[in-house]
Amino acid sequence: MSQLFDDHVVVQRILDHIDHHTTDVNDATWREPVEHYISQQRFDAEVGLVLRRYPTPFCPSAALPEAGSFVARDAALTPILAVRGTDGKVRAFRNACRHRGTMLAEGSGCEKAFVCRYHGWTYGLDGALRHVPDEYGFPGLDKRARGLAPVDAVERNGIVFVTQDAAGGAVADFDDIPELFSPRHRLLGCNQTEVVTNWKIIAEGFLEGYHIRSTHRDTFFPIQFDNLNVVETFGRNSRIAFPYRRINKLREVAAEQRSADGMLTYVYHLFPNVMVATFPYSMLMVVLEPLAVDRTRIVTYAFTDRTSQQAVDEHAPMQRSQDFLLAGTVEDRDVGCAVQRGLASGANQFFEFGRFEGLIGHFHRCLDAFLDAGAGQRSA
Ligand code: FES
Ligand SMILES: [Fe+2]
Repeated sequence: MSQLFDDHVVVQRILDHIDHHTTDVNDATWREPVEHYISQQRFDAEVGLVLRRYPTPFCPSAALPEAGSFVARDAALTPILAVRGTDGKVRAFRNACRHRGTMLAEGSGCEKAFVCRYHGWTYGLDGALRHVPDEYGFPGLDKRARGLAPVDAVERNGIVFVTQDAAGGAVADFDDIPELFSPRHRLLGCNQTEVVTNWKIIAEGFLEGYHIRSTHRDTFFPIQFDNLNVVETFGRNSRIAFPYRRINKLREVAAEQRSADGMLTYVYHLFPNVMVATFPYSMLMVVLEPLAVDRTRIVTYAFTDRTSQQAVDEHAPMQRSQDFLLAGTVEDRDVGCAVQRGLASGANQFFEFGRFEGLIGHFHRCLDAFLDAGAGQRSA
């Protein structure tokens, strides 16, 4: 069960902050060594000891709607293929043929089987090697032992989690994860872009509201408060509420009847590298996929809770909302790239995150703990 506050509690805290010109704060600031953003060794440890070792959100369940639906992409520098079987179960595999290693699938789609384009070895949706052309050329081939190499996949609360290195012994604690997707949510699409930035710099931009006035002066700031947030942690994850100015209208609504819908954006950080953000017409699931110490692929799945007909009827305001969101997103990416370029200056030994940037401290604290635990297991 999630430990998160009900909406009306969050709304009351926001109204109190508005009245008192305050925001949620931590007891202390957090200092993160700059070395942690530029060290290849640190990056390798984050990939090997955290991103591969712990259950990591891979894609939304909605991206795998029927038997044969698949999503293929690199996760923690490893080509992974997730596919829904005819039994409805989602399985994940290392995305490579067991003959000479050709990647089997790219992007997303729906298949009855995966046929290698090189020599035609064919795999079922359950990963079993079904057919080898001219099999007589491989005397003694044990097809049962040459199925696709599996990795752990678990589907919970509308998200497919993948654990590449289950031998690492990491314990999955899915109970903390709230139900983020309702049955009304429809997947609208997915896009990918690459940025020249360390993945944690992009993550940090989602976790504080201190930059709203300065970075988003003409986009978010006119409709949102600057540095006024309610923050919560649940396990290694977190949630931050970014209120819109119109939330003041809720003062006229009885406290327990106040809904946060259309009054704020929630950003859920699913440790380590996934954000789920709510907006008036849409919801985004953003995967920050580290490609190199200074390069990140941002994979964004967009959802709406509007029916197809509502989407037609409300096309104009939905489009305005999406354009607006895109403009704000570009500002965040630009500033993330500027931080990355600033790293080379050598000006800073550490970054200091203020008391109202507490979720960033939580993120780094958890990352440090997982790295320490992973290193301990490796040396044991
Ligand atoms: S590499 Fe796939 S069939 Fe040869
Ligand atoms: Fe931002």
